[in-house]
Amino acid sequence: MVFSCTRCSRLTTFLLETKEHHPDYFCQPVPPFGDDNAQLLIVGLAPGMHGANRTGRPFTGDYAGILLYQTLHDFKFCNHSESINTKDGLLLQNVKITNAVKCLPPQNKPLPTEIKECNRYLAHEILDSHSLKVILALGKIAHDAVLTVFNEKKSVYPFKHGSVYQLKEKYTLISSYHCSRYNTQTNRLTKDMFYSIFKEINLLLDRRHEYK
Ligand code: URA
Repeated sequence: MVFSCTRCSRLTTFLLETKEHHPDYFCQPVPPFGDDNAQLLIVGLAPGMHGANRTGRPFTGDYAGILLYQTLHDFKFCNHSESINTKDGLLLQNVKITNAVKCLPPQNKPLPTEIKECNRYLAHEILDSHSLKVILALGKIAHDAVLTVFNEKKSVYPFKHGSVYQLKEKYTLISSYHCSRYNTQTNRLTKDMFYSIFKEINLLLDRRHEYK
C-alpha cells in the first residue's frame, strides 16, 4: 500500500540521503506490523532513524520500543518481550502497530503537511479493518492524526494521557504519552502509567483473563 510512496518530497529526499549514509538501513516507508484481524491498533508518530527506519518494523531496534513490546508481552499480545528485527520470530496477536507518518522525518519532526499527506494510509488501516475496536494513540500527533481520519474536531476531543473517546460508535480512541526515551527516562510516562492504559484496553476489549 505505502511502500513506493513519494508524495512528500522532503521525506523522499531525506530517505535517499539517509540510505547513502547507511546503505544497510531499510530507508523506505515503514509498513504496519501485526495481526490483520486485530481489535487493537497502536499508532505511533514516525519511524526513528536507527530503529524502525533501520529495521523496517515500527518501534523496532531503538529505545522507543522497549516499554511497548515488554508491555504487549506482559499483556499477552505477543510471543516475545523484545522486537529486534524482522527476522526475530516475533508474532503479534490481536494487535497491529503503525505510525501516523510512515517515513523517517528529519529531527523526528514531520511537518503538518506531511502528517496530512500520510493520513490517507492511516485512514485505510483504520477504516478497512473489520475487526478493529480500540485505537491506542501514542502522543498528541498520533491522537490528532486519528481524529483527522474521522474528520473530528481536535477541540472536541483534546489529547490527554488516559483520555478515552468514543468515535463513530464503532471505535474507542484511548491515548497515552508517547513511550519515547525522553518520556520514559524523565518519568513523564512510567511503566505503571502505561500498564494502566493497557488494563483499560483489556476492559474495553473484554480481555478480563489476560491481565499480567
Ligand atoms: N519508532 C516508531 O516506529 N514510531 C515511533 O513513534 C517512535 C519510534
